[in-house]
Amino acid sequence: MSETKFRHIASAIESRIGSGQYPPNSRLPTHRELAEELDTTPATVAKAYKMLAEKDCVESFVGRGTFVKGKTALGQVIQAPEHEECFNFSLLQPCLSQSVPVLQEAFTNASRLFSADLIGYSEFSGHKVHRESGVKWAARFGLEKGTPENTLLVDGAQHALSLLIIALTKPGDTIAVETLTYPGILAIGSLLGRRVVGIALDNHGMCPESLAAVIREDKPKLVIVIPSHQNPTGITMPYERRKQIAEVIAGSDVWLIEDDIYGFLNTEAIPAICNVIPEQCFHITSLSKAISPALRCGFIKVPDSQVTMINAHIRANIWLSSPLNYIAASEMIASGSAFSLASQQQHIAIHRQSIAKSILSTSFRESEGYHIWLPLPEGWRSDRFVMEAKNRDVIVSSGSYFCPDAHESGHVRLSLMSVSTDQRLEQGLHKLNVLLQSEMNTMFPF
Ligand SMILES: Cc1ncc(COP(=O)(O)O)c(C=O)c1O
Repeated sequence: MSETKFRHIASAIESRIGSGQYPPNSRLPTHRELAEELDTTPATVAKAYKMLAEKDCVESFVGRGTFVKGKTALGQVIQAPEHEECFNFSLLQPCLSQSVPVLQEAFTNASRLFSADLIGYSEFSGHKVHRESGVKWAARFGLEKGTPENTLLVDGAQHALSLLIIALTKPGDTIAVETLTYPGILAIGSLLGRRVVGIALDNHGMCPESLAAVIREDKPKLVIVIPSHQNPTGITMPYERRKQIAEVIAGSDVWLIEDDIYGFLNTEAIPAICNVIPEQCFHITSLSKAISPALRCGFIKVPDSQVTMINAHIRANIWLSSPLNYIAASEMIASGSAFSLASQQQHIAIHRQSIAKSILSTSFRESEGYHIWLPLPEGWRSDRFVMEAKNRDVIVSSGSYFCPDAHESGHVRLSLMSVSTDQRLEQGLHKLNVLLQSEMNTMFPF
């Protein structure tokens, strides 16, 4: 048996899994069926299945067959490296080596602040002193009118999104998002039975005309926008566009969620959409991207009329976010180390964007953010590209994970911050560039 043939077959099956042709938990064809289809032997197919089982993609049961392992949408976007030599460009997180010493110092200082009052149950959503830190954090990056009363504490932005979707919509309701969006939102929609529809994007972000049309035709209860360094396109909405979006929302009866988790990466603060429509907008920030996702510290500025209701949801859901983490977070915000770290991460991102520009032969939208939305050369499909990259130990996220209808986007998302050093970034990008310059292998053109 040719040493490479079963690898090609395994890669082709992975490609079918990635494209949804073989969905999670479905049974794969028998060895004989697939061997006939691919003009090979059952033994070669068996070897390919064994390889996929070792990669944890499929599972075989005696007498029942081989099944695709159930993975969530988020599990596919964010992948753990298979071994140390992998270049993992799938994690959208800050450069953690910068964050470790800052967190160590903050937790050491924080432990001296522990008091019976701060470590007990708290009224309202978290302690006032911690909500004040949230006001200070968000205000630095363009949010006005935040107060400790209208700013609530959550376990990160993902928690804020699911909490607000539960609080503001019912199963079967429609939620409108950018046509390419953060898969965490799509996962909430599919798990909680909300219909998700897309609003067109242009070079300045969400299009006001498309927003108006979707509100008119699809009647969403809720619109979610990511205005800065949008995940995945990297677009940052200029202020003019933010005002236009606010105008359309103001003329309707829908809620807006402004997920500004990457707002701290703007070199000059851009005023939030929420400033224009504070009574119709929920504004989300978090410390995950500037400091560490392990902190699980997020803030929602809530319309005054909705504070009691959202606060009741937080209590019913988690009672309150861990004050221990907020003691450390508040310490970093008060001392200024959170802002210094945010600005260091911003400088690293800008530097790494310039490294990527100098190495990748494909042109892409320039940005000062953590990631690149990389158009693939003609002939490539994103799921197939992801698979081929993975075979070369480079992990990237397929563009199809970011579409509400999982259509082919012809892009992959590349995070520039998750590899530890500039040198590793360069090595990984060179490997990827070789693939970008090659043609899609059409031996099994599914
Ligand atoms: C747009 C967006 N919102 C929310 C999140 C979740 O962030 P957190 O770690 O604060 O829950 C992410 C994470 O990638 C994101 O990209």
